[in-house]
Amino acid sequence: MKKKPRIGKIGVLCSGGDGPGMNAALRAVVRAGLSYRLEVAGIMRGYQGLIENEIVPMGPRSVSNIINRGGTILKTARSAEFRTDKGQARAVAVLKKRGIDALVVIGGDGSYLGASSLYEKWGIPTVGIPGTIDNDLHGTDQTIGCHTAINTALDAIDKVRDTAHSMERIFIIEVMGNRSGYLAMEVALAAGAEDVIVPEFKPDYQALCTNIQAGNKKGKVSWMIVTAEGGAKAEVVAQTITNMTGLETRAVVLGHVMRGGTPCGADRLLSTRLGVAAVEAIREGNFGVALGVIRDKLNIIPLADARKRDNDIYQERLRLIRMLR
Ligand code: F6P
Repeated sequence: MKKKPRIGKIGVLCSGGDGPGMNAALRAVVRAGLSYRLEVAGIMRGYQGLIENEIVPMGPRSVSNIINRGGTILKTARSAEFRTDKGQARAVAVLKKRGIDALVVIGGDGSYLGASSLYEKWGIPTVGIPGTIDNDLHGTDQTIGCHTAINTALDAIDKVRDTAHSMERIFIIEVMGNRSGYLAMEVALAAGAEDVIVPEFKPDYQALCTNIQAGNKKGKVSWMIVTAEGGAKAEVVAQTITNMTGLETRAVVLGHVMRGGTPCGADRLLSTRLGVAAVEAIREGNFGVALGVIRDKLNIIPLADARKRDNDIYQERLRLIRMLR
């Protein structure tokens, strides 16, 4: 049997795009770590900060009043250098020098790739917490930030709806989600949008325009169409519809607005549970793993398996969106 390494000090970092709830996860990691009498080090600016030795000690008060704050107090970054062996070697040397025995990584698929390399190639004990608004990771029903991002998009779309109805226009709303259509599908259904475009299906502009024209003949005055950034750009969709129908169309890109704001209750709960679970996984010698919650139960899988997610919500959501328009 492999001997459990002695863990006296853990590091924690946020990496990739921030999401609401990352601070709540950080708070839980720090306070759970301290309650198990571990030392906790906060690594600034993700893997890049690790390479550059930007590390601060974390006490219980370092994470006061952050459970409700969006973004991350540790800051975050995408590091090209860390994707190289040389960069990883520098990061490992810093971990050794600073006496950090295990690392908690809060981030999405790119961050998991890094955490997986640190474990597999360099033998550094790592644990991943799914922090991304995209909800594109395997092994968890939801990722931290996606609930809030959906609510933020709905809030914006409800406002656009007022002007869409008043001016009798077609609006194309572009939402984030990287290569995944998850956010777009959920947002479209919850917003009562007429249609949705996602990277998982080829857009059918002919069908879309035929529907708009048929609807208009029956007295429909405004349209709300949600597009995923990885599916089609809002400007392109708007221009295509105008070219094909002659109807006035406007594009709204929600973009980074979706990443900000106070995390909602569901995101805080998920973050808090997973932050504690990360520390407990380390104490149990469970490394190279990604944490999640499935049907309210903690779920632990290898980091490498968490990186690809096939969402199975699309057909059902699409059917409802189109039935109810
Ligand atoms: O992964 C989170 C995310 O917000 C994606 O939805 C989006 O494609 C990407 O990050 C944007 O990244 P950046 O902030 O680097 O432009």
